[in-house]
Amino acid sequence: MPRTVFVAPAWPYANGPRHIGHLAGFAVPADVLARFERLRGSRVLMASGTDEHGTPITYEADKKGVAPREFVDENNAIIVEDLRRLGMTYDIFTRTTTANHYRVTQDMFLKLYEKGYLVKKTQMGAIDPTSGRTLPDRYIEGKCPICGFPDARGDQCDNCGNQLDPIDLINPHQRGSDAPVEFRETEHFFFDLPAFGEQLKGWIEQHDSWRPNVRKYSLEFVRNLKPRAITRDLDWGVPVPLPGWEDNPHKKIYVWFDAVIGYLSASIEWAQQRGEPDAWKDWWQNPDSWHYYVMGKDNITFHTVLWPAILMGVGELELPDEIVASEYLNMSGRKLSTSRGGQIIFVRDFLDRFDADALRYYLMIAGPENQDTDFTWDEFVRRNNDELVATWGNLVHRTLVNAHRNFGAVPKPQSLTPADRGLIEEIESGLDHVAANLEQARFQNALKLVMGMAAKVNVYLGTEQPWHAIKTDRERAGTVLYVALRCVDNLKTMLSAFLPFSSQRLHTMLGYQDVIAPQPDVREYAEDGTSHKVLTGTYSSDNRWRPSELEPGRPLPVPEALFKRLDDVVEEPA
Ligand code: MF3
Ligand code: ZN
Repeated sequence: MPRTVFVAPAWPYANGPRHIGHLAGFAVPADVLARFERLRGSRVLMASGTDEHGTPITYEADKKGVAPREFVDENNAIIVEDLRRLGMTYDIFTRTTTANHYRVTQDMFLKLYEKGYLVKKTQMGAIDPTSGRTLPDRYIEGKCPICGFPDARGDQCDNCGNQLDPIDLINPHQRGSDAPVEFRETEHFFFDLPAFGEQLKGWIEQHDSWRPNVRKYSLEFVRNLKPRAITRDLDWGVPVPLPGWEDNPHKKIYVWFDAVIGYLSASIEWAQQRGEPDAWKDWWQNPDSWHYYVMGKDNITFHTVLWPAILMGVGELELPDEIVASEYLNMSGRKLSTSRGGQIIFVRDFLDRFDADALRYYLMIAGPENQDTDFTWDEFVRRNNDELVATWGNLVHRTLVNAHRNFGAVPKPQSLTPADRGLIEEIESGLDHVAANLEQARFQNALKLVMGMAAKVNVYLGTEQPWHAIKTDRERAGTVLYVALRCVDNLKTMLSAFLPFSSQRLHTMLGYQDVIAPQPDVREYAEDGTSHKVLTGTYSSDNRWRPSELEPGRPLPVPEALFKRLDDVVEEPA
């Protein structure tokens, strides 16, 4: 039975272009999982979109002097284009401003409300004492009461990742100035998180495969659960679906409450758009389905506490299985741009100059899988030149060039030596080892295994020297090249989730006519008389995660180089 797998990449805020650090968290690891699962025949749904509400949006829109709607339209388009160019195979990448998302969010809100999990309470809300305007959480800064970080925001501390309330901050002041903050009474709905405390704790403890940082943050968090306000004094967001609230322009649902519901609403939208309105249930109401959530570490507790509690409260919906949280990719190394507080490298600038596969490879092999990591150009260039070009690219190149030049086709092997057979078997067994690592989101281990195998095939070629053997023993040279081609074909399968663009080209160079690494495209989805763009695609899931059966005699086209060597000194992107 093929597995049914839901891949849930965190929703990027539509508050500006993404930088490459973001990609290490929500994007590339999720796409690797989705592609890998499809390759082994799993039924995959990868659903996400841009997160378009809340103060993260209004704060930046205000700064630019544009309306939130206009602001998110612009950023959604930029982010969609970045993700398309990166080769992110979302089944649906939509937005939280769709009518469908509003409906599903309000429906979930009402279900929790009817079950008594939402309680109205009076809270202290922050205002600017000079103007009397309410100050959303993000407009307030102060010292984190949990870790002492001096620049924590009212909604969250970026240092320890904990969710905060502005009133808990030590010495709260307005963001970007010393202007004071005052607190006044305001009414809000609170989600009764403590009602799920025991259940959450037991559920988290069951998951001993989660990375240590994920378990640690989550267990600490559930130890001290408080009811959490899920409405805000704000005019941009999903309306609160209750009489007296619905039409109040100044009260909206809290962005994190609506954003996590996006995983479900996007799945429903996907099902509707493909004309099978119940298809989402195969993932959400199927206990045999497997749900991966992929994010940066500042998102952990939203996915291990808030979202599971919502799902438990509503009931009959699948909980997360694996939480794949990355640490941070910092840009504090060599300073390359003039922006304050370290350099920022935007995705589109990066992709204007370098291939998507080079970026994907770097993020997965040298990214923040297990600890905070500094991006440096030197390391990017070194990984590209020494590993992609000199190890994998070189293996592919000399194998294909020699096979093509001397045989024009996959050569027919004569009798295999024990060494030939041993190498083929070793590389074939790599399929299982790499799969075992990928299943547990151990990407760096998986890639190291593949690169180690590529190096071994290079050693084999260096020993057998088919380019010399061809002059004296054409049959032996053909056999060696056949062995190398089989190995290259297997390694291609293992790398195609990481390096989809070059793997597809290699697939064609090996004489295949079909698609092993599909790419997404942008389509227009219509609803309720309006329409919006989504990133989507048609991706088959045939079982291809099996040993190569490259048949001798298959014609080989003229090979081309897979990767570009980079000069040692990379200039700063414009
Ligand atoms: N927009 C959030 C961020 O960038 C992530 C939201 S993930 C979701 O940090 F679950 F809420 F969708
Ligand atoms: Zn903190």
